[in-house]
Amino acid sequence: MSTFIYRDHTLYAEQVSVAECVRQYGTPLYIYSQSALSNNYFAYARAQERIKVCYAVKANSNIRVLNILAGLGSGFDIVSGGELARVIRAGGNCRNVVFSGVGKSSREICAALQADILSLNVESEMELDAIADCARHTHIQAPISFRINPNIKAATHPHLSTGKESDKFGLHPEQALALYEKAAGQKELSIVGISSHIGSQIFKAAPLEQMLNELLDIVDRLKANGIALKLINVGGGLGVCYRDEQPLSIGQYISTIEKKIAGRDLTLLVEPGRSIVASAGILVTQVQYIKKSATHKFAVVDAAMNDFMRPILYNNFHKISTVQEAHPRKKLPYHIVGPICESADFFGSNYMLALASQDLLAIHDTGAYGFTMSSNYNSRPRAAEVMVHGKEHMLIRERETHDSLWHNEWAPAQ
Ligand code: LLP
Repeated sequence: MSTFIYRDHTLYAEQVSVAECVRQYGTPLYIYSQSALSNNYFAYARAQERIKVCYAVKANSNIRVLNILAGLGSGFDIVSGGELARVIRAGGNCRNVVFSGVGKSSREICAALQADILSLNVESEMELDAIADCARHTHIQAPISFRINPNIKAATHPHLSTGKESDKFGLHPEQALALYEKAAGQKELSIVGISSHIGSQIFKAAPLEQMLNELLDIVDRLKANGIALKLINVGGGLGVCYRDEQPLSIGQYISTIEKKIAGRDLTLLVEPGRSIVASAGILVTQVQYIKKSATHKFAVVDAAMNDFMRPILYNNFHKISTVQEAHPRKKLPYHIVGPICESADFFGSNYMLALASQDLLAIHDTGAYGFTMSSNYNSRPRAAEVMVHGKEHMLIRERETHDSLWHNEWAPAQ
């Protein structure tokens, strides 16, 4: 059940009127639903007993979002020292944190060791050496997993593929096997698991199952050599419906994995991002002007590509609807564009809408990779964020001001 629904022809986030939120907080405005977040989280967490859900922080790193997920028992997949700091600030348990990414700096590795995280997912031999150095330096044994690149095509947008040989991520299985042997001989390293993540917005089970088979083959080969792993991390990547895509059933996906790992003493770890937060958020924007050219009708709105860049970056469709339904005006095809000085600044083409200046629009399924990918391009302060829970709403990030634009910048004395 969607948590963004129309009642009396006006859009609600749970039991809060979107128009009411806008009156209080202005536009552009990200609105998130706490119930949607927890329902999406439990789709994974209730699917299996021995599962650790490590939510991928990059999808939405607002501290309140992390705090709610931590409260539900979630762990976290991080890719930077900044994300680790956010998890700690949000009250997350670092024993449930895994650290992915090809370019962890020594400073980030040391911070992760000091925070006592569950696993560093190693992506190259040089990184393994850097982790061993940090472990010696901090006198903290480093828990490691190797991230495998199984050379599998995930049938997604090329920017979202991470499991092909030509992608920068992970290690070839043979290379990983050699590095497991190398790590096994180093007392400052503790081998805990194996991981992989072949891409994002995936709709077919076959490539994910193929990846799991690859991982299990390595697990078995290591066991035969006396290296027993505790964790198997199959990454994130399950797709969500933006237009008419058919997402995989999370329950079925997890139970397929469960069957395959049954009999082995392994804890299953998943790193979902999008499938937890995408449907839990909308971006609300106001129409400034309606403009007609010889060929097109444009609705110029007050949000822009700096607030939400998925449509232009991945050519991704997002549903757009008016906050007030059942307008008496006739529906016409509009290009929805922002105020930024680039033709790339658009949210979509030919949306059939009945529009006038000042109308509010909701861009749907923007909870994932929305605010986290926003910027200050064109010196636009970033949007505010609000969390809704039942009848309550709470500002969880203030709208930036002009002062916050040059907060860290040299400026002449006034
Ligand atoms: N684990 C690792 C190691 C990852 O790199 C990612 C995403 C995830 C988990 C979470 O994947 P998800 O469940 O969200 O698909 N900005 C793009 C998505 C980039 C995903 C990068 N890695 C977008 O807006 O579609």
